[in-house]
Amino acid sequence: MMIIHDQIKFLTDEINHLRSDGKKLGLVPTMGALHEGHLSLVKHSFRDNDLTAVSIFVNPIQFNNIEDLKKYPRDLRKDLEKLGKLLRQNDLVFTPDVNEMYRDPVTHIFDFGNLDKVMEGKYRKGHFNGVAIIVSKLLEIFQPDKAYFGQKDFQQLVIIKSLVKQLDLPVTIVSCPIVREHDGLAMSSRNVLLSEKQRKEAALIPETLFSAVQKSKSLSVKELKRWVIKRINNNPELRVEYFEIVDNIELFPIKTWEEKKEKYGCIAVNVGTVRLIDNVKFPE
Ligand code: PAJ
Repeated sequence: MMIIHDQIKFLTDEINHLRSDGKKLGLVPTMGALHEGHLSLVKHSFRDNDLTAVSIFVNPIQFNNIEDLKKYPRDLRKDLEKLGKLLRQNDLVFTPDVNEMYRDPVTHIFDFGNLDKVMEGKYRKGHFNGVAIIVSKLLEIFQPDKAYFGQKDFQQLVIIKSLVKQLDLPVTIVSCPIVREHDGLAMSSRNVLLSEKQRKEAALIPETLFSAVQKSKSLSVKELKRWVIKRINNNPELRVEYFEIVDNIELFPIKTWEEKKEKYGCIAVNVGTVRLIDNVKFPE
């Protein structure tokens, strides 16, 4: 059976006990409303570690918009049911409340240079500082050998790698591929907030990203960006907030396809009041 804790003290006692004989621990941080994307991270951890821990905590300080926090889907009972089926003997689930995670006021401000100024950082002020604070707390509490994050949140992954480097944390960050629905839409906890019609139209986002990879053979970077934005905005249900093609180290926009860098096209789209993100890798 999996072991569930909601208090740091009991959790860390348990971890110390379970790891006394040098067992490897993998951590999967989540905000719950679990789907196959989350569960794929758990499966990656199974391959590398003796023990896997999943944290479920809707982190208020990473929401820049109170309405978004209020409507964020929560279903702990269903989450525990899913994890109950998947997790193995002695795997851990941590379900703290806000008081448990934030006893003291939060003041720390990280410096990520350009990384948190662009894309999500530009449109969600303070978001990544909130992510960095909770992730550093979780890494401190669990002291995992490895921690698992999805490429769906490409910018978050780059920032967490930078955080671990800055703080010299002895953890390996493992990046896991995007899990998609049958029509290509990236799985997200927020997808359940879409109406049936919006959910159907949202498939245009991945479809356009995949076509963009093909089109990159014949269009310039500038032309391609325009093409993507126009194609998605042509659908009245969808409004592009940004589409940027950046490198995976500094997140600087690339100017030409010739640049010898790993390039990712990153997009945020408002579908009604629901904000979805996705990304695709361009050939080097
Ligand atoms: P959440 O959105 O719940 O996502 C938890 C983890 O699952 C993240 O690493 C995210 O990238 C990954 N994930 C989500 N959808 C995925 C998909 N379709 N395919 C693959 N991986 C996917 O990201 C957060 O929570 C929070 O910011 C957190 C890191 C937990 C800090 O609060």
